[in-house]
Amino acid sequence: MADFHIEKTSTPTPADQREALLKDPKFGRVFTDHMVVIRYVEGQGWHDAKVVPRGPLSIDPASTVLHYGQEIFEGLKAYRGKNGDITLFRPGANAARFAASARRLAMAELPEDLFMGAIENLLKVDRDWVPQGSDQSLYLRPFMISNEVFLGVKRANEYLFVLLASPVGAYFSSGCVSVWVSDEYTRAAIGGTGEAKCGGNYASSLVPQQEAAEKGCDQVLFLDARERRYVDEMGGMNVMFVHKDGSVVTPPLSGAILRGITRDSLLKLGRKMGLTMREEPIAIDDVFAGAASGEIVEAFACGTAAVVSPIGSFHRASGDEARFGDGKTAGPVALRLREALSNVQRGEAEDSFHWVHHV
Ligand code: PLP
Ligand code: COI
Repeated sequence: MADFHIEKTSTPTPADQREALLKDPKFGRVFTDHMVVIRYVEGQGWHDAKVVPRGPLSIDPASTVLHYGQEIFEGLKAYRGKNGDITLFRPGANAARFAASARRLAMAELPEDLFMGAIENLLKVDRDWVPQGSDQSLYLRPFMISNEVFLGVKRANEYLFVLLASPVGAYFSSGCVSVWVSDEYTRAAIGGTGEAKCGGNYASSLVPQQEAAEKGCDQVLFLDARERRYVDEMGGMNVMFVHKDGSVVTPPLSGAILRGITRDSLLKLGRKMGLTMREEPIAIDDVFAGAASGEIVEAFACGTAAVVSPIGSFHRASGDEARFGDGKTAGPVALRLREALSNVQRGEAEDSFHWVHHV
């Protein structure tokens, strides 16, 4: 493993305060005491890897990221199983996607051993922050920014990698999610950056997400940018539908949607459980017609933050609603898949795909 310098904080959060925070951390507001920083300079490569007390970064106002948005990130979780063991779920897949995002944004690639070393070294000092509750985990947020002091538009020659950790509970507070179909705004076109996990994709999702909130919905669903006809994905998660014959369908990887690791894991786990899992284009009109006729009986969002979140209803500007059951009760297929996935993630079920990494 790469050599990380470790500088511990002189003012760690007292244990009783930490335990109080871990009781109900919600999502993304509580942070551990430390973070990892690694620097990259063209010609020198990656260097100066360290764990330091969590605190502000000092950035020059002419730093390229502030002007042209060369930024990518990842999201993965550390889980504490019933026996106290700490596990990561497919961290190599996150490292690979981080490298793919870097290539698309013309950034320096962080080697997988540094990605893994960052996580393992942070967990060495902040291990007590991994909560044990059944829907709790330590959310890890690796990100990278370009950091050259220069106003020309070109690939930067300096980068900063940072890893933060945040104890979290469920992403959605309600049991069943309501979803607004964005008929006007799209997220990404083929050939664009939809497959990369870059901040810009999320910046452009905020107006449609705001529109969703104004309509009383929790999340936004994007359609394909060419025809606005086929389901792409949601603002921060992939989407799956369950037909009345029990088969599960999700949009294929078109180049415009994120290659979700949860999506891929559910496709594989579902097949192992005997379910028919299909990757096919899904017309949004067929979702509304299918919900009305009983052809489609469930829908759910899937992602690291969302895990498997049942969708109660879709709504769109025409005033139409596609509702599953009473719109408030999770469907049985979503629940089965969620349980199967969570059990593997927490090291509590057979890991037949070798996905679990013990730390
Ligand atoms: N799609 C988007 C836009 C996301 O932000 C995420 C979350 O990471 C996903 C899909 C799901 O990806 P994963 O399952 O790898 O977390
Ligand atoms: C994740 O699931 O890791 C994401 O990045 C999505 C975001 C909604 C938190």
